[in-house]
Amino acid sequence: LTRNDKKSAAEQALSEAVERYTRRNPQSSARYERATSFMPGGNTRTVLYAAPFPLAFTKGSGARLWSMDGDEYVDFLGEFTAGLYGHSDPIIRAAITKTLEQGISFGGHNGYEASLAEMICARFPSIEQVRFTNSGTEANYLAIASAIAITGRKKVMVFHGGYHGAAFVFGGQGSPLNAPFEFIVAPYNDAEAAEEMIAKHRSDLAAVLVEPMLGSGGCIPAEPAFLKLLRSASAACGALLIFDEVMTSRLAPGGLQEALKVIPDMTTLGKYIGGGMSFGAFGGRADIMARFDPRSAQPLMHAGTFNNNVLSMAAGIAGLTQVYTPSEAIRFNQRGEALRARLNRVVAQHGANMQFTGLGTLMAVHSKRASGSRSAA
Ligand SMILES: Cc1ncc(COP(=O)(O)O)c(C=O)c1O
Repeated sequence: LTRNDKKSAAEQALSEAVERYTRRNPQSSARYERATSFMPGGNTRTVLYAAPFPLAFTKGSGARLWSMDGDEYVDFLGEFTAGLYGHSDPIIRAAITKTLEQGISFGGHNGYEASLAEMICARFPSIEQVRFTNSGTEANYLAIASAIAITGRKKVMVFHGGYHGAAFVFGGQGSPLNAPFEFIVAPYNDAEAAEEMIAKHRSDLAAVLVEPMLGSGGCIPAEPAFLKLLRSASAACGALLIFDEVMTSRLAPGGLQEALKVIPDMTTLGKYIGGGMSFGAFGGRADIMARFDPRSAQPLMHAGTFNNNVLSMAAGIAGLTQVYTPSEAIRFNQRGEALRARLNRVVAQHGANMQFTGLGTLMAVHSKRASGSRSAA
């Protein structure tokens, strides 16, 4: 077959698949059409769009989802890591139901927030004190903005392929909607380049923000030596090192910082820690977080209507104390490691142009052979 023959065969197969999918999912299609009248592209969360139209779901239970068209799916996405507890964990459900019975929006403090904060401080080595937000994006905004306010410097080092939320996109072409901070984008996992760039900007650098494993960027783990270099070089020039552990915090009881023994100045969290409800958090060294203490002379201001909302707080506590305990985090990630190894054995046996990268329970598939592996064909 010539290249053109292959291309037209692939195009033909794709158009047949689109036709089958459209025929099979009329309710999802109709919902999508209706939504396009009132929402741009029928969408309020860009990442969920897929042509010709995305499926819509009516029910989730355990690790399964049911589409509007009545089909049952196994949920391998797990809400981009926020769905760690699945769709119907009885402990999480009980916590939410009990909390709902007591009312939801107090506009005041509640009995949950300090307990969740205490648990987070006990688990993540860098977090001596913590504050809550509603999303990982917000948590990263606050971590960056506080580093700028505290250091009096303006530049923020980030890495190619990084994703820290809708306003902090450093994969591909980036995003015109990125927050207008002075970002310096360095190559990921290149300790030498990072060292050079930190040295070049040493007097202007407020923060170095990094995912200890690129999540959206394809589950690419950081080299420990790269993170160690970021730790020592940022400390040497007075910039704050921020680990975005919004995704990676689940990979060990105390996140990847604990597993790799590299302790940043600040850490951002999100996803499953709110038990599946909206959640974000930023925390770190007590002297940094003390700047937010409203009793101080000129406190940094961080309000937020839903920062301490009872549902996220109560579901989060139930999750960390009764479901994703430290021993469960270890057991679960060992299973993930075993699954990824098995998947890579299977693709190697078949000589497929594929590989699964990641750590523990987070993995991504790439249509590229692992370096060093040979085709069996
Ligand atoms: C590493 C990382 N940081 C931050 C975020 C943003 O979190 P949120 O979607 O809750 O704003 C995400 C979301 O996918 C993420 O993967």
